[in-house]
Amino acid sequence: MSRYSQLCPVYFGSGEVNNTGTIAKKLGMTNVLLVTEKTIVETGIPQKVIDSLLKSGITVSVYDGVKMDAPDTTVIEGTKLAESTGADGIIGCGGGSSLDTAKGIALYFTNKKNVDIKKMIHFDPANPITLNPALKTVMIPTTSGTGSESTFVAVITDTDTHQKCGCIVWANAAVVDPDLTLGLGRTITAYTGMDAFSHCNECLCNVMPNPHSDTLALNSIERIYKWLPVAVEEPDCKEARYNLAIASNFAGIAFQDSQVNVGHAMAHALGARLHIPHGIGCALVTPSVIELVAGARPEIYRKIAEIFELEISSDEELPTKLADAVRSFNRRIGIPSMKDLGITRDQVLSTVNYALSEMMRMGCIVAQDEAIITDMMAEVYDSYQ
Ligand SMILES: [Fe+2]
Repeated sequence: MSRYSQLCPVYFGSGEVNNTGTIAKKLGMTNVLLVTEKTIVETGIPQKVIDSLLKSGITVSVYDGVKMDAPDTTVIEGTKLAESTGADGIIGCGGGSSLDTAKGIALYFTNKKNVDIKKMIHFDPANPITLNPALKTVMIPTTSGTGSESTFVAVITDTDTHQKCGCIVWANAAVVDPDLTLGLGRTITAYTGMDAFSHCNECLCNVMPNPHSDTLALNSIERIYKWLPVAVEEPDCKEARYNLAIASNFAGIAFQDSQVNVGHAMAHALGARLHIPHGIGCALVTPSVIELVAGARPEIYRKIAEIFELEISSDEELPTKLADAVRSFNRRIGIPSMKDLGITRDQVLSTVNYALSEMMRMGCIVAQDEAIITDMMAEVYDSYQ
C-alpha cells in the first residue's frame, strides 16, 4: 500500500512572482504580512511581491527578522506583528528559514491563545495535539533547495534546547519563479542544491516509498546532476536555474509523502551541535546514507548510478561506488569538508547521540543503532577530506 498527496497548487514559471497579488486575492487575502530576511530585502525580490500585492489592492506589512534555522523567538515576534497589523494572510519569501518562519507564524497566529509555542513546534505523532487551521499562506522560494513550499512541515528551532523541531502546516499556494534564483552565489547554490538532492535520496530509502515520490525524486536527481554544476559556474544561466527550481520543488513534493529520515537526523545533529549549515550537512551525510541503503533498493539505486554515468557490474559494488560518485560530485561543486570548516573528528562524533534522538531516522528502510550512526558520522569525516 502506498499513500501520496498533492498539497497545494504551484504557480511555476519565469516572472510568476508578479502574479502574487492575483493569487493572494483569490485566496481571500486583503491584508498581508510578508515574512522575509534582511539579506533578501536587499535583493529587491520582496519589493516585486509588494508591488504585485499593492496592484491587487492588498495591504502589506513586512517582517524582515527571519534568522537562520527559524528560531521560535522569530515566530513569536512575527506573530505579534501580524496581530498588530490585523493580517489575514501570510506570505513567505526567501530560503527555507523564511518559508518555515512564515508557516510557523501562520499556525501560531490562530493557535497562540490555546497552545504554547513549544508544544506547537514539538509535533509528536504519537500524541498529536488538535490545532486550529493556520492563516492562509503563499510561499515564494528564492533558492532551489528547501522544497518547503510544497511540504506539510515547518522546521522551527527550539531556542531553549537548540533542537530542530517541526510543526504540521502547509501553504495554500506556492509561487516558484526560477528567475528569483538568477545570480545566486556559488556556495548557496551548491548547498541548497545538495539539500534538494538529500531530500530525493531520503525519500527513495523511506520505509514507505511510493511511485509518485520515486518518479519525482529520480527526475529531480537527474536535473540536479546535470544542472547544479552549471548553475554553480554560471549563476545567470536561465536553463540551469529553471531545471533546479523544478528539481527543488519536485523533491519537496516527493518527500512530502516519503519523508526524509536518517540523513536529515544526522544533518540536524550537525546543525544543532556544530552549527553546520543545513545544505552542507545534507551534502556531507548523503554518501554515508547511500552506502547504508543502496543495497536495500538496488533497482532504484542502479537508476541513480545510471544518472551518475557509472558502470555497475554487481549489486555488491553499488553502494560504495555510488557513494564515492556523490563525494566526487560534492567536490566538483565546492562542498567544504569538515576539516575545511575547522571541525574535528571528535566533534563530528559528539553529535551521534543527537542524531540517535531524532525519531525521523526511524523512517529509513534500513534500521540503525548507535554503532551504525557512529560509523556513518566517522565516514562523514574520514571519507571526505
Ligand atoms: Fe533539508
